[in-house]
Amino acid sequence: MRLIFFGAPGSGKGTHVELFSKYFGIKKISLGDLLRDESKAETPLGLKLNSYMDNGLLAPDDLVSEIIKSKLKSDGFVLDGYPRTIAQAKMLDEMLQEKGIDIDAFIYLKVDDETVIGRLTKRLVCENCSAIYHLVNNPPREAGVCDLCRMRLKQRKDDSPEVIRKRLEVFSAQSKQVLDFYKDKQKLVCVDGRGQKDDVAKRIKKAILPVDSSSRLPDSCA
Ligand code: AP5
Repeated sequence: MRLIFFGAPGSGKGTHVELFSKYFGIKKISLGDLLRDESKAETPLGLKLNSYMDNGLLAPDDLVSEIIKSKLKSDGFVLDGYPRTIAQAKMLDEMLQEKGIDIDAFIYLKVDDETVIGRLTKRLVCENCSAIYHLVNNPPREAGVCDLCRMRLKQRKDDSPEVIRKRLEVFSAQSKQVLDFYKDKQKLVCVDGRGQKDDVAKRIKKAILPVDSSSRLPDSCA
């Protein structure tokens, strides 16, 4: 399986990428996590990225595509957070063609802004292993401590109301072209991302297993 998860900030990409990479036993590639690792390590690249990430802006296409290129192998993967622009979608297409492979599905988790704001303002992430929690929907067993690695949980810097608004604006400016690109390639799978995560996961499974073009609903996506 080679899957891409796409959607607005807080649509549940990271949550479901984690779930499906375990479910299929395939590697997850989360661009946001990779960029945050660079930033945390204060590498020259990380320092350059801070100004984009802290302000809810996209990092340059060439730069993020190089990072993805270095991670992409010919075996299965679940990709989170890339591509986000039409330029990135075309670059990924070239990378896959060079390897003689293609994706099975481009999964668009569709949510409304109100859902996003409710999720992101109450999200907690592990500063060590990047596990994702929610104060109400998915709380850790012990307040402020990761269930998996016992390290500290914190709010992401870009989860402030102003930066969330900016990220939503950026998503809405870029998304249509990307969705149209995958619709034309007949890879687009649109899933209602609202509601409990188990219900969303069931919808995703139903839409991609088997990956069958009749289960795709491209017209309701764009
Ligand atoms: P990134 O880290 O990818 O952030 P994002 O796209 O804004 O998405 P999020 O991680 O905020 O949300 P998500 O959809 O993963 O939701 P989650 O599962 O956590 O990117 C950060 C920054 O890096 C960008 O702003 C940019 O600067 C840079 N960047 C990244 N990719 C780039 C690219 N391709 N090009 C250029 N720059 C790039 O869920 C959110 C919360 O909701 C959690 O608390 C979770 O527990 C909860 N939740 C999830 N699903 C459900 C559900 N069904 N019901 C209830 N609660 C739920």
